[in-house]
Amino acid sequence: MSRVTLSRYLIEQTRCNNTPADLRFLIEVVARACKEISHAVSKGALGGVLGSMETENVQGEVQKKLDVISNEILLEANEWGGHLAGMASEEMDNAYQIPGKYPKGAYLLVFDPLDGSSNIDVNVSVGTIFSVLRCPDRNGNDGDLGEEAFLQPGTEQVAAGYAIYGPQTMLMLTLGDGVKGFTLDRELGSFVMTHDNIRIPEKTAEFAINMSNQRHWEAPVSRYVDELLAGKSGPLGKDYNMRWVAAMVADVHRILTRGGLFMYPRDSREPEKPGKLRLMYEANPMSFIVEQAGGAATNGSQRILDIQPTSLHQRVAVFLGSKEEVERVTAYHQE
Ligand code: AHG
Ligand code: MN
Ligand code: MN
Repeated sequence: MSRVTLSRYLIEQTRCNNTPADLRFLIEVVARACKEISHAVSKGALGGVLGSMETENVQGEVQKKLDVISNEILLEANEWGGHLAGMASEEMDNAYQIPGKYPKGAYLLVFDPLDGSSNIDVNVSVGTIFSVLRCPDRNGNDGDLGEEAFLQPGTEQVAAGYAIYGPQTMLMLTLGDGVKGFTLDRELGSFVMTHDNIRIPEKTAEFAINMSNQRHWEAPVSRYVDELLAGKSGPLGKDYNMRWVAAMVADVHRILTRGGLFMYPRDSREPEKPGKLRLMYEANPMSFIVEQAGGAATNGSQRILDIQPTSLHQRVAVFLGSKEEVERVTAYHQE
């Protein structure tokens, strides 16, 4: 059987599902940038890319060298092609303007250039998360693109995906018609489809949460995790196992592969910031992918994709993965 590369998949999507040619080009460019990031990540100490910068991002987190390198790779790859009206990233305070010398396009690209920064220096999986939105009509205004253009609920995403840089480099992608997985063939230099029609099992006995935050959790989360830990003799009547990679891409990738529940709840430490993860470039793209694979994603009280964002870097509580458990923990929040 002939191999289906990412390019072939995208061309067939244009032919059969009317995927616009400029969206196809956009995804190809993002994929090419992810190959470059994969290459940089894999060099590690040999490439002098490990360790931190002296700068912080808008969240007040110290930037790793690879956070900045990955951000630059994505910007440079995407700014000249004429497919974007603007970009936004975890590593930039404000919207990135397409330089005046290049044409502008119909889409907005939002990304977490390198997710799981704390894993970089210890040689554990990291990744890139991205979300594609349409740029709203600007009524002939060709001045600077403001943050408001990006503030669209996750249901408006036209594509989302992530690359994971692990034992294999993989690209997981949804165009709103299921989730496909591509593995990087390093000899060919191309992503080849290896996972067609990814489905998350509805039931699971595996959960992921940073337990060190337990004392700060709200009551519904404490109750739920107590029940998970009680196992077979508790109210849920089965034993659960726990995993926490500390890189959302890797935890979500495991869930797409064999099911599970991922939680990053809000807690009492910074009440004005609901949770740690960011809505626009972490929770929304991952929720789109998870829903397209038959899973669910909420913030405890509502579907993540329905949230109307109010700022580019806003945070959100996240419960995502196998439907049965997401529904259970969400129901506990409503009781
Ligand atoms: P980033 O490296 O892009 O800032 O994201 C890290 C996020 C996410 O990937 C992960 O699930 C979570 O932070 C880990 O949090 P803890 O440090 O609490 O484990
Ligand atoms: Mn991240
Ligand atoms: Mn990041």
